Amino acid sequence: MQTTFNIAVLAGDGIGPEVTQQALRVLRTVGDHAGVEFHVHERAIGGAAVRAFGSPLPEATLATCLKAHAVLLGAVGSPEFDTAPAEQRPETGLLQLRRALGGFANLRPARFYASLAECSPLRPELAAGADVLIVRELLGGLYFGEPRGLTQNGVRSAVNTMRYSEPEIERIVRVGFQQARARRRKLASVDKANVLETSRLWREVVNRVAREFADVVVEHVYVDACAMYLVTQPSRFDVIVTENLFGDILSDEAAALTGSLGMLPSATIGGSVDLYEPVHGSAPTIAGKDIANPLGAIASVAMMLRQTLGLAQEADDVDAAITAAIEAGYRTADIARDGRVVGTAEMGELVERALADRLDRRSAYHAV
Ligand code: IPM
Ligand code: MN
Repeated sequence: MQTTFNIAVLAGDGIGPEVTQQALRVLRTVGDHAGVEFHVHERAIGGAAVRAFGSPLPEATLATCLKAHAVLLGAVGSPEFDTAPAEQRPETGLLQLRRALGGFANLRPARFYASLAECSPLRPELAAGADVLIVRELLGGLYFGEPRGLTQNGVRSAVNTMRYSEPEIERIVRVGFQQARARRRKLASVDKANVLETSRLWREVVNRVAREFADVVVEHVYVDACAMYLVTQPSRFDVIVTENLFGDILSDEAAALTGSLGMLPSATIGGSVDLYEPVHGSAPTIAGKDIANPLGAIASVAMMLRQTLGLAQEADDVDAAITAAIEAGYRTADIARDGRVVGTAEMGELVERALADRLDRRSAYHAV
């Protein structure tokens, strides 16, 4: 078994550094107990990188990521760059990184924790039992389509292009089917086929690929209806597969339904190096106050252990440690209704302790 892993760590902006620090604490604990060594290579991205190096994705950062076994990212974005040109925007760094790594499939699981039911904006009976995985296409559509830009002849106008080729659709749709097969075998393909040609092509491809996955039940759902069903009947969904912008919007919605955007992890796979990041953004208004929820970043470490590093048992232990901390009543401010309110670092320590207990018990068991 491989025992040394190089992890590129890009903490980024806002709350990115705080939550990433807690994720690293958990990663180190896994390393100490599981007999694997994680070499952490911290590099700059986003607004922090613009300030330090004049670019949101410096060459040294990209080079480190391309050589790593996996990349762990915090968050990018800062209001200070709101009016900056595209090449100086923090978000551009993340988009360039995604493209350079080649990961086209972004997995965003929205898991509902029973003990957080009171935090969901949904009635508890609606939230209970909801468990959705959004498979978002990440390298196409409006985010990358050409032509794009602002034109200045007389009346100013701006253009973005939603473009998808058949192979681009097919590869993400296949990931959707494979994920559904590993779960409850239901796939909702979300589009706007009543209006968009890209969506009509998307539907055709889904129907063609569906023949190879006869065990998966497929439905086509318009994106506007999907947004509604997520709040009215969230438990009707298992896996949702959709294009880039629809997936961006629906994943924030699904995440908020679980109680807090701060809880959710994501994985970007299918390229040369996998990328893990919490779904939440840089949340500049709460940055540096030790109140951000680190659980999304920590859960991203669990996804990394499972999907990329082949440490499924340790991944389960990290997930169980998160659940243990919540069930013991500890809450960061975003999920505090009752329970004991703790800061970012304390939540990280609590998860670390619960994890170390689990890992110790396992090694004691193996030693017998
Ligand atoms: C996300 C974010 C990014 C996106 C931004 C920061 C570019 O909102 O990861 O969901 O739109 O993909
Ligand atoms: Mn988003």
